Amino acid sequence: MIVLGVESSCDETAASIVENGRVVRSSIVASQYELHEEFGGVVPEIASRAHEQHILPVLKDAIDQAGINLSQVDAIAVGHRPGLIGSLLVGLSAAKALSWSLGVPMVGVDHVHAHLYAGILGRELPAFPALGVVISGGHTSLYRMDSEMNLTRLGATIDDAIGEAFDKVGAILGLGHPGGPRIDELAQDPGANDRAFDFPVSRLSKESLDFSYSGIKTSVLYTAKGRPAPPALKGKPPRPKQEVPELTYERKRDIAASFQRAAVKALTVKIGRAFEQEGDFKTLIVGGGVSANTLVRSEMTRIALESNVELIIPEMAHCVDNAAMIAGLGTKLLQSGHTDDFSLSAIPTTAC
Ligand code: KG4
Ligand code: ZN
Repeated sequence: MIVLGVESSCDETAASIVENGRVVRSSIVASQYELHEEFGGVVPEIASRAHEQHILPVLKDAIDQAGINLSQVDAIAVGHRPGLIGSLLVGLSAAKALSWSLGVPMVGVDHVHAHLYAGILGRELPAFPALGVVISGGHTSLYRMDSEMNLTRLGATIDDAIGEAFDKVGAILGLGHPGGPRIDELAQDPGANDRAFDFPVSRLSKESLDFSYSGIKTSVLYTAKGRPAPPALKGKPPRPKQEVPELTYERKRDIAASFQRAAVKALTVKIGRAFEQEGDFKTLIVGGGVSANTLVRSEMTRIALESNVELIIPEMAHCVDNAAMIAGLGTKLLQSGHTDDFSLSAIPTTAC
């Protein structure tokens, strides 16, 4: 079965051809980082306009690189939730047009769920139940996975996502957008001291499997830029803003490494708790842009080894947004009888 995947939920326009839910015949991703760089984050209107420009060339490249004709496509899978509504609509409209003109079925795929399929591409299905961990720019969630299609959410962030925290810290340190890969790189400088700053590791309540990343971001802000001036007391002169040392390369590097250590620790604490509380996992499945992080990858390897479970983590190209994961999970959904009609909507929130 040859499935064409389409993805446009945020700032990547992607298309992919996947055969039988496993073999990635092509995976094309057009990023728009440079368009959003000066704003320090994704601007929705700019994103949807760029998707409109990229979608047809990206679809054509995916077909050409797979060495097939459009007539060989058996079905279309499209990421239709969650994401920016204007961005989602571009991919969804293209998918509907293709499905109608080719006369093939279409299925809508949840983007967050698809991140957990990214590591399964190109291999046999792993053993279930598995602990699924999605760490991306928009989500930080833990799932019990009884199959690749059957998820129960165990916990999620109550404020910022881990990738969002990386990006905000990147912006505070003036590293540009997206900050995640740049913090990763800076933290790998041999001179970096990841104990230089003791940033808070959020644990929430004793049993909680939820996450919180807004406190650490504020703590980095105050360390890098100083606390804002406290309000003036009645009849007294204004109190000064806290002075902090100059943000030199060395200081940025140490802040980046210390932030990364604390942010990843907050993740591993909750994964450890999930193993303790749920017990019977046979596999640890990780996905989402932050699974490209060097420290995350080594920590996931360590946890899997210590917990005696197999680790499934995507190859680098499939960590960040791509359409191969959409086509892969879409194939599984189609094979189990799911299809959608042209009333399929773009939805900003996840279903899982
Ligand atoms: O999965 P993704 O492409 O988009 C969403 O679904 O959100 O994830 C993007 C996120 C961004 O926050 C980006 O900074 C982060 O993944 N990211 C990284 C790394 N590579 C990408 N974060 C830390 N270290 C990395 N190497
Ligand atoms: Zn994503």
